[in-house]
Amino acid sequence: MIAYLFILMFVPAYLTFDPSQARVNLREDVPWHYGVLAAHVIFGTVAMATVPFQLWPRFRQRFPAAHRFMGRAYVFVGVIPSSLLALAIVPFAAGPAGNAIGALLWLAASLYGWRMARLRRYQQHRRFMIYSFALCMQIIEGRVMVLTIPHLPGFDPSSFPLLLETASWIGIVLNLLAAQWWLEWTARRNKGSLAPARVGTSTR
Ligand code: HEM
Repeated sequence: MIAYLFILMFVPAYLTFDPSQARVNLREDVPWHYGVLAAHVIFGTVAMATVPFQLWPRFRQRFPAAHRFMGRAYVFVGVIPSSLLALAIVPFAAGPAGNAIGALLWLAASLYGWRMARLRRYQQHRRFMIYSFALCMQIIEGRVMVLTIPHLPGFDPSSFPLLLETASWIGIVLNLLAAQWWLEWTARRNKGSLAPARVGTSTR
């Protein structure tokens, strides 16, 4: 739901193809900046709109063919073009270092996850697609921080560039930690459910 809310809030401005509606500072000396940004947003929307279905267990179980189709759309129409286009505009972006690392990690995790599916190594596929999901969604925390923190009392406008760089890292770190926690928690839970049931005996 958060992903779809983000799409509704941030994407429509870029579907007008009107550079004056862009919320980021466009470089006037770089004529292709707006076109690449808009294409990044559109391909990113494909990724963000498809990935929640991919992680939904019931959807995967009931519609395996749709899972494969949407998985290919996520990787080839979403992640690959969107991350490469993001890399093309990071030199002009707020928080360039974090954004560049985020784009590279997103691309690498998704390609590795896709390769693991092709090799039928589904444990590794699941692991890396959960990392890929975490890296796709990290962009949301950054946007929320940049939109809210400057309105907090006592915010010093001179620290805005620092906020922009920090915002580009926070989502990466928090989401990857959350993904790792989820992987370990589900592994422990599944191990527990495989343990033989103790019927009528004390657990002490
Ligand atoms: C790791 C993944 C991603 C990276 C590294 C990334 C990077 C970037 C960069 C560098 C910009 C330009 C910011 C600036 O010039 O200040 C940008 C803008 C934008 N990106 Fe991404 N992006 C990613 C994923 C996504 C996804 C999945 C979407 C989904 C729709 C998306 C939607 C947008 C939007 C809407 C903007 C314009 C922001 C605004 O109007 O405030 N991005 N992104």
